[in-house]
Amino acid sequence: MSRYDTIWYGAQLATMTAGSAPYGAIEDGAIAARDGTIAWVGRRGDLPDEPERLADRAVDVGGRWITPGLVDPHTHLVFGGDRVADFERRVAGQSYVAAAGGGTGIAHTVAMTRAADEETLYRDAAQRMRTMIANGSTTIEIKSGYGLDVETELRLLRVARRLGHELGITVRTTYLGAHVVPPDYAQRRDAYLALVCDEMLPRIAREHLADAVDVFCDEIAFSPAESARVLDTARRLGLAVKVHADQIVDTGAAALAARYGALSADHLEHTGEEGVAAMARAGTVAVLLPGAYHYLRETVKPPVAALRAHGVPIALATDCNPGTSPVTTLPTVLNLACVLFGLTPHEAVAGVTFNAARALGLDDRGVLEAGKRCDLALWNVGSPAELSYWLGTSRCAGVVVNGSPVGCEPREGGRSA
Ligand code: NIG
Ligand code: FE
Repeated sequence: MSRYDTIWYGAQLATMTAGSAPYGAIEDGAIAARDGTIAWVGRRGDLPDEPERLADRAVDVGGRWITPGLVDPHTHLVFGGDRVADFERRVAGQSYVAAAGGGTGIAHTVAMTRAADEETLYRDAAQRMRTMIANGSTTIEIKSGYGLDVETELRLLRVARRLGHELGITVRTTYLGAHVVPPDYAQRRDAYLALVCDEMLPRIAREHLADAVDVFCDEIAFSPAESARVLDTARRLGLAVKVHADQIVDTGAAALAARYGALSADHLEHTGEEGVAAMARAGTVAVLLPGAYHYLRETVKPPVAALRAHGVPIALATDCNPGTSPVTTLPTVLNLACVLFGLTPHEAVAGVTFNAARALGLDDRGVLEAGKRCDLALWNVGSPAELSYWLGTSRCAGVVVNGSPVGCEPREGGRSA
């Protein structure tokens, strides 16, 4: 019996482990997997024997770069319809906040989602997810939050779980019943919060449909006090929490997230220094969403310098959603984060690997290291910085999930796409 199931060799490895080399790079590297776990990582010359003699399957990746499989820690991937009409109004000058009322904005997607059957929701989301995987993602978080009634929220979470099972990657589900107050509860905010806390949350916890709970704490959604009610209930039920924080105005949402020991606080465009300091003390990860910033033509940037100064880990995500970020490829987000927020290409890659895994509470991935899950992404690039350089073309040559290739296998030879 071979020592390993598979060895990939002829590779440049961006291990993303801390150390002196940028990206934790290993040139002319090899990586070996056994039972879905990374069993060996290093220079090819340090392998004790020829790859063919050590593994059942030896793959020459032809000089390509290998990173940890990318982690997308914030998406609203499952929804009905689209928001093209909102987009047209917004490019003509209407603001996101103005679109939040009436039948447009999130309320429109809620109506379209309630009207969509499970099969349609699944099929449309699966198509988006295939694009994500083809662009390097092997772990994806999916939020509910476009149902806002018991039946539809459960449907969204079930579809999210099924996407993970059928497409063969890790899906982490997050219940976002507190996305906004739905139109049918417009004058009864407390009644809606009671529905979320007393009915939906206990049921979702009982049926193990969500790995975490999120709340949109902002001026068009829930106040800090209302958000705290949801976070208290989630914590009582033993669920991890996350917060959509300070996207539109600073309501103190990042500090609230920290107070609840949230895995992450996301958006953060308007977060002040106090919120950042609180996040640092709590170990809460900052998830930045440059797709939403770009689509909404925001001008206030998240406090990147303060996040760095306080040592808050920075993660990045597509925020894939129909209203503010119809983005399905993480490499696009890397580029936007560098160009719009001034992240370094190294910070950008860390933001969709190690730090993104932390934002989901996962410590078994995000670096190429023996003992971690063997989730890999292979790239037709000459350096890891090139991942942030291209915009709109895919340089991904395939992914490996739990030790097995998914999608296209790397071709032999040259590195052109
Ligand atoms: O993350 N900020 C709140 N929620 C989503 C957008 C939802 C929508 O507009 O449909 C976001 O940007
Ligand atoms: Fe979001």
